[in-house]
Amino acid sequence: MSKKFDALMQDFHAKKMSNSDIINRRRVINGEDDGLMQVSPLKHPFADEIFKTMLNNNWVPQEVNMSKDLEMWKSKSMLTENERRVYKRSLAFVSNLDGIQTDNITSNILRHITSPEISLALIRQAFEEALHVHSYSTMVESLELDQEEIYGMYRQDQELYEKNRYVLRSLGSISDSSFKTGNFADDQKFLEACVSNIILEGIYFYSAFMVFYTLKRNNKMPGSAEMIQFINRDEDMHLWLFIKIVNEIKKEQPELWDEKLKERVINNIRGAVEHEVSWGISCINEGILGLNGRNLNEYISFIADMRLIALGFDPYYKVKNPFPWIDQFTQGSMIEVNFFEATVREYATGTLLWD
Ligand SMILES: [Fe+2]
Ligand SMILES: [Fe+2]
Repeated sequence: MSKKFDALMQDFHAKKMSNSDIINRRRVINGEDDGLMQVSPLKHPFADEIFKTMLNNNWVPQEVNMSKDLEMWKSKSMLTENERRVYKRSLAFVSNLDGIQTDNITSNILRHITSPEISLALIRQAFEEALHVHSYSTMVESLELDQEEIYGMYRQDQELYEKNRYVLRSLGSISDSSFKTGNFADDQKFLEACVSNIILEGIYFYSAFMVFYTLKRNNKMPGSAEMIQFINRDEDMHLWLFIKIVNEIKKEQPELWDEKLKERVINNIRGAVEHEVSWGISCINEGILGLNGRNLNEYISFIADMRLIALGFDPYYKVKNPFPWIDQFTQGSMIEVNFFEATVREYATGTLLWD
């Protein structure tokens, strides 16, 4: 049984602690938590806002029409050999990444959270990661792709293997089951792991997403791009949730965010950019449809600056977005730093309002 219930398992003493005592002592980590998920009143209203937006974002992969994609995939002339290869490698990578993230949220992050409203949002996130895994399998099945080729790619393709390993290592500092928060060094490790989640949600997916959007922009594989738009919309909320979690822990335990940790965080983001760019370049090979190594590098660097700014740092790369047309697919959500602060998004179930 979770340690959260320790207090409840002691002998009964009437009115030992009031609701407001519990709420006042609530923290993202290391807070008072009786394990009974009392989410009203709220200590962290941002989590409730995010949870409600996630509920409005309901969708299922079966509602995406993949028939044109199958037609194009079967046609000899619609896609080049390189475009097919890039499509398959991108699909394999995002599928691996969402598999990693489903486990990471449930095994590494959730058990340390002592704010029930944040736990609710994370549980919904874990469901969405599972939904994404299912979406990729829907794409594999709809196109009648070789399952061994896609899911077994990381066993054959060293670059994909190394990329997955790098992502896993960046999340791994808190993955030991004996890891606990509650002292300075371990709380710092947890905070750093939350930044690794921002990197995963906010940098690692983006070369692959760009591949699917580039194809769609050239009238290729429209169902796949729509599936990715749904996924991308969910990932935006996950990114925002972790930015809020990190910034809230910084407020509650300001001593953790010291110069050494800041330096590590900046280095982690820069390392992630290098890995994402080198993976992206290897994935697109000689390039597809105007997407090449140079503009992919600029794009990932541009996105990384947005993540740095969201964490309170100065931008490092200071480059312009080479793909301003991306807004038509993402409604500018990952571009505008203050997008979430400024906009309350109303979604109708199962729709993409900006397409
Ligand atoms: Fe995901
Ligand atoms: Fe995610």
